[in-house]
Amino acid sequence: PAAPLVLGIETSCDETGIGIVRGTELLANAIASSMDEHARYGGVVPEVAARAHVEALKPTLDEALAEAGIRYEDLDAIAVTSGPGLSGALMVGVSAAKALAVSLDKPLYAVNHLVGHVGADVLRSREDHEPLEFPTIALLVSGGHTSLLLVRDLVSDVELLGETIDDAAGEAFDKVARVLGLPYPGGPQIDRVAAEGNPKAIRFPRGLSLPKDMAKHRYDFSFSGLKTAVARYVEKLQDAGEPVPIADVAASFREAVADILTAKAIAACNDLGVPRLLLGGGVVANARVRDLATKRAASAGVELRIPPLSLCTDNGAMIAALGAQLVMAGRAPSTLSFGADSTLPV
Ligand code: KG4
Ligand code: ZN
Repeated sequence: PAAPLVLGIETSCDETGIGIVRGTELLANAIASSMDEHARYGGVVPEVAARAHVEALKPTLDEALAEAGIRYEDLDAIAVTSGPGLSGALMVGVSAAKALAVSLDKPLYAVNHLVGHVGADVLRSREDHEPLEFPTIALLVSGGHTSLLLVRDLVSDVELLGETIDDAAGEAFDKVARVLGLPYPGGPQIDRVAAEGNPKAIRFPRGLSLPKDMAKHRYDFSFSGLKTAVARYVEKLQDAGEPVPIADVAASFREAVADILTAKAIAACNDLGVPRLLLGGGVVANARVRDLATKRAASAGVELRIPPLSLCTDNGAMIAALGAQLVMAGRAPSTLSFGADSTLPV
């Protein structure tokens, strides 16, 4: 059978993403973001994000269809993120997907956002990259999640190994940036400033680091202690009327985050005998995270897979890609009674 033409809808956070794929071929990846509206609050405001999705959905759909050069009637299926994410934001995408599925009489697939991040990797061009094989470990790091997955099969066997027990890594970047007086979103700012600093200047704590007796939290993350340590360090200097070495603080903080993220991901590969590691989420843009992941994967003999950034940050193409995988695996579509589930498990 011909590869299925699938439209994907992603509205779990502040990005309205509409993607269109044919099998594993990317045809369109249209994105609208409400990030600018959240900037003055220093983080995503759920109500503002939901309202922005309502406004952005139709224009983003139009853009994706035009980019792919298809009409609604051509579609074989629709896929939508049903969770995890912000409830109100998810509901906008889920409602739109149901309306489209009903009016077009097309099958609808409710998919998990985190598994969608893994699905993004199947869209990479065949000339440059071998197809994704399984099992793979996936490290997914953004402003909303920090999760480590064991993916034995994309459509049928995904296991959550661990996740953050407090802040997401991207959230920690955003909060530390605020402490340093850098604008939102803070991740790119810290990354830029850190390039001029000494990562060994200050030894910030690594949360839930890896001694053998940490069995319970071996694959979990914690960034709130690190964030507080940075805030204390900065406040102390400010109280003493001393200048804050912003570049050194940024570099040392970035080092701590990159160290713990990559150490745990590679530990999972080693422990479980999995020879590949896939990265996803907006924090993958971080230069030190990429650098350390590359070095540690190479010395552990692990294949490192990093999709292009436009497929790492939240997007609709990854949801369409996962939907197409479900169609090709012969999976039954979802019944239309599903809802948005902010804590949907993998
Ligand atoms: O995947 P993403 O666009 O989705 C949301 O969580 O909305 O990720 C955004 C997050 C923000 O927290 C941002 O500060 C962080 O990714 N981020 C970075 C970098 N670029 C974006 N964090 C560290 N270094 C970067 N270069
Ligand atoms: Zn995400």
